[in-house]
Amino acid sequence: SKKLTIAIAGLGTVAGGLVQALQENAQWITQRLGREISIKYILVRNPDKYGSVKLPVETKLTTNPDTLIGDPEVDVFVELIGGIEYPRTLITQALNNGKHVVTANKALLAETGTELFDLANSKGLTLGYEASVCGAIPIIQVLRDSLAGNQLLSIAGIMNGTSNYILSEMSNNGLDFASALKQAQELGYAEADPTLDIEGFDTAHKLNLLIRLAWGVHYPYAKLPVAGVSKIESIDIHFAKELGYRIKLLGQARIQDGKLEAEVAPALVRNTMLIASVEGAFNAVHVQGNASGSLFFHGKGAGALPTASAVLSDLVNIARGTNASNMGFVEDNIQKAEILPNEEA
Ligand code: HSE
Repeated sequence: SKKLTIAIAGLGTVAGGLVQALQENAQWITQRLGREISIKYILVRNPDKYGSVKLPVETKLTTNPDTLIGDPEVDVFVELIGGIEYPRTLITQALNNGKHVVTANKALLAETGTELFDLANSKGLTLGYEASVCGAIPIIQVLRDSLAGNQLLSIAGIMNGTSNYILSEMSNNGLDFASALKQAQELGYAEADPTLDIEGFDTAHKLNLLIRLAWGVHYPYAKLPVAGVSKIESIDIHFAKELGYRIKLLGQARIQDGKLEAEVAPALVRNTMLIASVEGAFNAVHVQGNASGSLFFHGKGAGALPTASAVLSDLVNIARGTNASNMGFVEDNIQKAEILPNEEA
């Protein structure tokens, strides 16, 4: 059967990982799917910057988005630029031109609510976003598909690799906050604007997406209570340790008397809990379903290849023709949230 032709926007950390993984695993992927995944274009701002990057022979660098969005041969538009307005325009155009979309852009999906999903659904196209939450951990598919028959009671997790890396380095290696952040940036974990990581907003974006998948609730992003790790000092970590605790940045949501309670904040976690032992750029998510019971997912939450692994899972589903129901609920059943505690006055 015909190959799946993709176009990638961006050639940063994650896109670089995707190009690498697609080349290294090309034979294996083709064997599994019975069709090849081929990168026709990569959209970049400055092609000269990428002279040394090893690209497949069929891949062209371009600076003009119309080249890829207007090409009828392109089946999937993979957005890995980041930011909000520009990628939103590109994704909208790609969907309007009949292309499936795969993105790692949690900020865009959380802050624009359901409009891109509604557009994708109305066109019968997939909007894949496995890579947008917790890197390699397949939590989108778990909540959308694997646990779809459960009523979910709670979700709690470490969803930002950068913050967890900083906390771990401060705790285990005595680094100060600024040096630990600098290392996380050098390792390719942090967002282009690391404020999103250290002030908890990146975790809030991810939690917003998980809440929609778990409960069919659109929780307005701007209403989520958010605190990050930027005010944590070595002395806090030191005292917590002496008392048998770790400080972890948690995103949490639970159903309480039919209402949804959610927040992002640093929390004291007892040493004996699984989540306390999640170190470095690893993420973890604990989910409780009324039939499944308690589940715990652990894996690399940031970085080139782990995030590329999640992008690949969306591409594989599209190549197989698996019709993903993007939000995990039929459109008419996406609710506005009744939320605790902010709206209870
Ligand atoms: N900046 C994010 C993190 C990347 O540190 O977790 C993965 O979404």
